[in-house]
Amino acid sequence: MTAQTTVLDRGYADMPIPFGWFAIALSHELSAGEIRTMRYFGTEFVAWRGEDGVVRAVDPVCPHLGAHLGVNSTVIGNDLRCAFHHWSFNGEGGVTDIPYTRLVPPRLRRNCLPAWPVTEADGVIFVWYHPNRAAPKWEVARLPECPDGGEWVLAETHEWVIGIHCQEITENGQDHAHFGAVHGVPKAPAGKFTVDGWVRHNRIVAEMNTPRGPMTGIIDVRATGPGQSIGEYIDVTHVVQSQQVTPIDSEHTHLRWQMYHIPGLSDGRLRVTKARMRDLVRQVNEDIPIWNAKVYMQQPLLVEGDGPMLAYREQYQRYYQYEDDTAEVA
Ligand code: FES
Ligand SMILES: [Fe+2]
Repeated sequence: MTAQTTVLDRGYADMPIPFGWFAIALSHELSAGEIRTMRYFGTEFVAWRGEDGVVRAVDPVCPHLGAHLGVNSTVIGNDLRCAFHHWSFNGEGGVTDIPYTRLVPPRLRRNCLPAWPVTEADGVIFVWYHPNRAAPKWEVARLPECPDGGEWVLAETHEWVIGIHCQEITENGQDHAHFGAVHGVPKAPAGKFTVDGWVRHNRIVAEMNTPRGPMTGIIDVRATGPGQSIGEYIDVTHVVQSQQVTPIDSEHTHLRWQMYHIPGLSDGRLRVTKARMRDLVRQVNEDIPIWNAKVYMQQPLLVEGDGPMLAYREQYQRYYQYEDDTAEVA
């Protein structure tokens, strides 16, 4: 829950919502035949899973006489049937059936209702949001290969709704000086920040002393678009933190985490792994009160040691450059 903590203009309401792939649910939250109204990006849409297991999403208002397709509609096969007069729509938004008319007019069979691109990867359902409904520009990132041909073990999932624009949540990783102040991390994580097209990459390599002698710890975080980051923490243990941030509107963000570890851990290594996960959750819980109240600084007063926040913002601007993108014509 977000408490109102300030009457200040926090600067988020007028910020645009970036385009990209964004998580709307975990896969198990939408079973075959189930329909859900989703409220994200300052709008709503309706998603359902067909009998074939594929998730589809369309705009929420039935173009016939305006019923809300999230209310009392039914999944018939792979299509969504409106409750009001039983018109059925496929995942492309075409009308597939009108039970009381002899023939579905050809102009209704395609593009009758705007549809949203949907994909599902590693237990998460994503939609592509673009204010002009342009086609996806990249693919969602997948979990890295699990070492030794194993399968990642999903250990924990977490979610939070936070009163802040989504850009600020991922900026936090580039904000070096807050790690000491907020999280009690003794040394700012000096690492390499690089940008490659739609992907931002942070890599930190640190020598560390362990009871078994010195070893190299690696933190590798790859953010693909504004909505998805996958972090790998490799040292005595190996943890993958899969993160999605989804704008509910420009002032509220839904944050989701799925945490994985490698299979076959001994009790000792499992304890270390659980402690690492607890530590990451502790850190975000330390950030949240600050996020819920802070103001967006368009021109922050940065000094040496603050971290590559401007480079981050420069890359992030790309997700707001959509004026020239035109709607996909199916
Ligand atoms: S309003 Fe949906 S079928 Fe008539
Ligand atoms: Fe933080």
